[in-house]
Amino acid sequence: MAAEPATPEDRAAALDAAEARTRLAELARLIARANAAYHSEDAPEITDADYDALKRENAALEARFPDLKRADSPSEQVGAAPADGFAKVAHAQRMLSLANAFDDSELRDFVAGIRRYLGLGADAPLAFTAEPKIDGLSLSLRYEDGKLVQAATRGDGEVGENVTANARTIADIPHRLTGAPEVLEVRGEVYMSHADFEELNTRQTARGSKTFANPRNAAAGSLRQLDPEITRARPLKFFAYSWGELSAPLAETQVDAIDRLDRFGFQTNPHTRLCRSADEMLEHYRHIEQRRATLGYDIDGVVYKVNDLGLQGRLGMRSTTPRWAIAHKFPAELAWTRLEAIDIQVGRTGALSPVARLAPVTVGGVVVSNATLHNEDYIAGRDSNGQPIRDGKDIRVGDWVQVYRAGDVIPKVADVDLTKRPDDAAPYAFPVTCPECGSEAVREEGDAVRRCTGGLVCPAQAVEKLKHFVSRAAFDIDGLGAKQVEQFYKDGWIREPADIFALQDRYGAGLQQLKNKEGWGEKSADNLFAAIAEKRSISLKRLLFSLGIRHVGEVASADLARHFATWTAMAQTVDAARSAGTAARAAEEAVATERSRAADEGRRAQITATRDAIWADVPKEARAAWEEITGIDGIGGTVAMALVTAFGQEAERASIDRLVVCLTVEPEEAPATSDSPVAGKTVVFTGSLQKMTRAEAKARAEALGAKVSGSVSAKTDLLVAGPGAGSKAKKAAELGVETIDEDAWLALIRDG
Ligand code: IVH
Repeated sequence: MAAEPATPEDRAAALDAAEARTRLAELARLIARANAAYHSEDAPEITDADYDALKRENAALEARFPDLKRADSPSEQVGAAPADGFAKVAHAQRMLSLANAFDDSELRDFVAGIRRYLGLGADAPLAFTAEPKIDGLSLSLRYEDGKLVQAATRGDGEVGENVTANARTIADIPHRLTGAPEVLEVRGEVYMSHADFEELNTRQTARGSKTFANPRNAAAGSLRQLDPEITRARPLKFFAYSWGELSAPLAETQVDAIDRLDRFGFQTNPHTRLCRSADEMLEHYRHIEQRRATLGYDIDGVVYKVNDLGLQGRLGMRSTTPRWAIAHKFPAELAWTRLEAIDIQVGRTGALSPVARLAPVTVGGVVVSNATLHNEDYIAGRDSNGQPIRDGKDIRVGDWVQVYRAGDVIPKVADVDLTKRPDDAAPYAFPVTCPECGSEAVREEGDAVRRCTGGLVCPAQAVEKLKHFVSRAAFDIDGLGAKQVEQFYKDGWIREPADIFALQDRYGAGLQQLKNKEGWGEKSADNLFAAIAEKRSISLKRLLFSLGIRHVGEVASADLARHFATWTAMAQTVDAARSAGTAARAAEEAVATERSRAADEGRRAQITATRDAIWADVPKEARAAWEEITGIDGIGGTVAMALVTAFGQEAERASIDRLVVCLTVEPEEAPATSDSPVAGKTVVFTGSLQKMTRAEAKARAEALGAKVSGSVSAKTDLLVAGPGAGSKAKKAAELGVETIDEDAWLALIRDG
């Protein structure tokens, strides 16, 4: 009997064309079967070596007989992922990011803030873990019945990319766990060591392939490969440091939970310490900082987490970050370079922002040629109160300047070297007219920023507003990004948001058609029209955020939407409040003038009288509307003023109205728990609470679907009054608003 050919290549060489055709079909079937068993069913039927042999034989046959290459050739396949990219997966629990502290005092503030939130005295024990912040990319691994069933990147925190096939190739990631809860999502960081990074780049260079700028990019590029076999060849590592969905708690403390992950077989960071005070946390920070260069992988700071998981639960989270953790970043990296020019960019709200154009310089591994100069005072060498910064040194074109970066933050110009200043360098004259539209650019009292007064007439403002409108947290229209908006604006197709929704009617057919435009075709045009149509229905909070009104960001938009529920209710109240807004501004200005004239006690009464006199002229309904807006928890006079101003400006209002008629604004639903006894109720907290802090009370009430307001009105359903409740309790009694104490409140929400 003839000996079996030794290698897959030998096997391929032994076949003629007819045999090769049959064998290629067989290989396609075998490899597809092996892929399915491995990727989708988590039950590999052949060894990795046998799998590799099949793929090699297939490749060798295709090389010998290129004409026989099949349409479904396994060499063109990309594992479990769809060919056009990764499938999307919704995270069972959001993947959060971390708030940052940039110096010791911010870390101390964090600790003090937690004590305040939890109502803990300065001496009550409170422990934190401190561990390196790994500079890689986060990954969530889902185990069901101890089996790895899914791996997903962070994405936008809510939806990530399914990289399961790739994650399975990482040696640090176990495929099976023993003794784990039925459902366990392990979260951590994928990273590449310095040594592996160097070696990879050397290999890439030798092969003529692209090299990576830093280990983080290399790790991200390697994990996000459509062919898991490429990921397998890349030396990725994984540290576990947190978790998502769990069917049973892992432990009572962070330290013990991480210890369990360690015992399940995950790598956990050996430089994790338990600290009992801010001093100990800072001490460990310095300890890690000193070892940074010898760890063998990139870190960019230290992460602190409250150790007691019960307390973590009480602290909960803000919109994208937990209250119980913070990242303490290492100081920014610095470099010196020449300032070649100062350009002015005009933003969405008309702000004139000076941008430094620099001779390119590497700062922390990244080439920097632009940096922010903040505003005109910053260039002149003073802060917003007129006090000198940089010892009063101004910044001039031609100067040598120091540039720094902190994490992903835009580079900044920090300092200037006067010894290198060219003789002919002149002080920078900040423009007083808009460089984009020529309108006057003014600085209002108390505003550090000079703004173009052109409004929608200014093309820069109009384009920036449109870019904001289509951005991810706003309308997020597939296929309509900043680049497209700029082009459409230039061509005169889209001048304001409402034009987006008229695009198909105007340019779907006829002489000027989108599909005939450069860069577009029938399919992409149809896709865009479909994506736009899909967004005709939009939530109130997104719509509000999209309008790009100054001071009305995502958080304020959500607060307003929760309170008003519908667009009509909101618009009516804002319109009704307009004259009160004017009065509020006049009152504030009058008060400021009085104060600056004389700050002595004797003038107090006069100031109050001035304010009262101004308010006395405001119609009752306007005042009630103004109070309703400013009474919303989280919304103050600044946001209220910005709203009434935007709604009161004729051109802007007309543009908003033209938009709203194109849309179906979904009324804001009360968050989940409609069965909670406080869902949909307006609750006010007053007096001093004993068992929880005000912030905690608010967060819990909102989580149960209640609206929390800062003031009592006829719309208040419930007043929770602690000891020392004063005017609010009185007003509630007058209005007949139900009033309960803290214990009754706790019983109410517990039973619900
Ligand atoms: S904890 C809920 N611990 O930093 C808290 N994150 O800037 C989840 N990171 O998205 C994060 N090292 O990708 C945590 N030891 C560590 C970390 C860490 C790196 C990353 C993580 C996160 C980002 C936030």
